[in-house]
Amino acid sequence: MLKLATSILSADFARLGEDILKVSAAGVDMIHIDVMDGLFVPSITFGIPVIESIRKITNCAFDVHLMIQDPERYIKDFVNAGADCITIHAESCVHLDSTIEKIRYFGVKAGVALNPSTPLHVLEYVLHKLDVVLVMTVNPGFAGQIYIKEMTRKIKELRELVQKRGLDVNIEVDGGISPKNVREVILAGANIIVAGSSIFNGNEMKNVKEFKNIFEEFGNDVPVDFRVDWNTI
Ligand code: DX5
Ligand code: ZN
Repeated sequence: MLKLATSILSADFARLGEDILKVSAAGVDMIHIDVMDGLFVPSITFGIPVIESIRKITNCAFDVHLMIQDPERYIKDFVNAGADCITIHAESCVHLDSTIEKIRYFGVKAGVALNPSTPLHVLEYVLHKLDVVLVMTVNPGFAGQIYIKEMTRKIKELRELVQKRGLDVNIEVDGGISPKNVREVILAGANIIVAGSSIFNGNEMKNVKEFKNIFEEFGNDVPVDFRVDWNTI
């Protein structure tokens, strides 16, 4: 299934609640929450108390993208704050396997994010434990950056890998995605689309609709080729 996750990094923080209600009403599938610590990435955003507060106003799934060093320290807190999916960066985590296990232990979905320069082979021995692989299509830290072209090949290679191994792993893309290039990432095999500035700049309702109309073109699913069972060929 194709899903739209709205990054609230581009929301108006003075009206965060209202902005979240607007995009929830517009029909986004997930609220993507970028937590940054000023160490793993240069920016500092928000943390657990903010997530607890916004959890009270919407039932929309919370997709928490942790751009923090040593995320294993805070998994339980983000679960308690209301995360439905927790994604950690392979680069920020010495004990990746045990941190994934920790997320799974708490019964929420587990994701691993990869910076643009990080090769897919870091996932070799953990891929089967994941619900989501987040392919960063910009360098993490800021909204409104330009999509890194080479990431299209990375998405394709990841989709092939997931398919070859017969896994049911979502491929999420994050950074510089707009209605102009979203078809390219869907055709490459992505099925969770994060969009921040291209939703919050302008009319949210109209922008969400534009993404959703494009999803309709694909029948709201990943292209047929990716649903072929490669083991039977
Ligand atoms: C960047 C964040 C993204 C960011 C995307 O480090 O992980 O989620 O908000 O913003 P846009 O869609 O504007 O590139
Ligand atoms: Zn993000």
